[in-house]
Amino acid sequence: MKPFSKPIYITRPLLPNREAVYRKIDEIFDSQWLTNNGPQHKHFEKVLVDYLQVSQLSLLNNGTSALQLACQALRLSGEVITTPFTFAATPHVLYWNNIKPVFCDIEENSWNIDPDKIESLITPSTSAILPVHVFGNPCNTESIKKIAERYGLKVIYDASHCFGIKINGQGIGTFGNISTFSFHATKIFNTIEGGALTCNDPTIKMRVDLAKNFGFQGEESVIVPGINAKMNEFQAAVGLLVLNIIEAEMEKRKKLTRIYQERLNEIKGITFLDKIDKKVDYNYYNFVIRVNKDKYGKSRDELYEELKKYNVFARKYFYPLCSEFQCYKNYPSSSSENLPIAEKVSAEVLSLPLYGNLTDGEVNKICDLISLIGVKLQ
Ligand SMILES: Cc1ncc(COP(=O)(O)O)c(C=O)c1O
Repeated sequence: MKPFSKPIYITRPLLPNREAVYRKIDEIFDSQWLTNNGPQHKHFEKVLVDYLQVSQLSLLNNGTSALQLACQALRLSGEVITTPFTFAATPHVLYWNNIKPVFCDIEENSWNIDPDKIESLITPSTSAILPVHVFGNPCNTESIKKIAERYGLKVIYDASHCFGIKINGQGIGTFGNISTFSFHATKIFNTIEGGALTCNDPTIKMRVDLAKNFGFQGEESVIVPGINAKMNEFQAAVGLLVLNIIEAEMEKRKKLTRIYQERLNEIKGITFLDKIDKKVDYNYYNFVIRVNKDKYGKSRDELYEELKKYNVFARKYFYPLCSEFQCYKNYPSSSSENLPIAEKVSAEVLSLPLYGNLTDGEVNKICDLISLIGVKLQ
């Protein structure tokens, strides 16, 4: 089989119409207001509250800042229990808040933090649980809530992958004390760089809004030691435009996901997250497979390398585990005995190309390649 004539990357940013962007730029230039809660920001925040079905929302310059400010707003300290199967930002924000990340193993089927393994990691220093809804698949929020209530812990959900997701019609940003979103260019919804923090408590929003602007209350009074985490007018304007096309993008990705699922179902040793709960309105952000070398004939790494020869650039998300990073690998909770499932899953996952402009034909060809590569070495 011939390689693709152009590189096929794991994703492409969802770009709004160019003319519409130029019109937005005109609006911003006319307003002469570039950042600091300008008209685009105000409007975007309002419409996002409705779209995400949350009660409180603060726009921020990125998803990492959202996590940072969540830790600050909840006054977290000591230790926080989190997952190693996530992007680097999740444990890093704990470290930057002088909090020790404690890694908990994940569930084999959801790839999310395993609630059954949280309790044994709780110590007198534990202040919170920081689960991640990995790839937009919601965590077991009921069980996590029960544990948090039993031990008086706060819960921050890293919902970076969850734009638009609802559970039983309820916005995913309403679970836990705080949820955080990333609007990075590679996410299904983007503001180039950007993010948001959502919660149910207006006091938390007030704290975050103060902290994201150096702690200023009015012109002359600084009441907390804040930071600069503001979303600017250009980001907010892009967000407003991308919001107009997000539903269509999700539909396209859903259709392509169905092709992947039908085709890859036929290949021995290739599995994927097909058990997303029926109660969940999913966003089809990405499509991640697991490769079982014994059944498929090649390892995840071999498949990844072979695909590259055909101009297909898949990514190993999440590999390595955060607990394997130089800065965390000596933590007691990073031991292999503590994280057997996470280590196994991380060695087998591969994120395949998925974005609205990918064609049915391209997805079918990627499936043909996966089939061929497996057979070649069997
Ligand atoms: C799970 C997770 N958490 C946090 C982040 C950080 O978000 P950002 O890149 O917007 O700072 C990302 C993505 O980049 C992510 O995937």
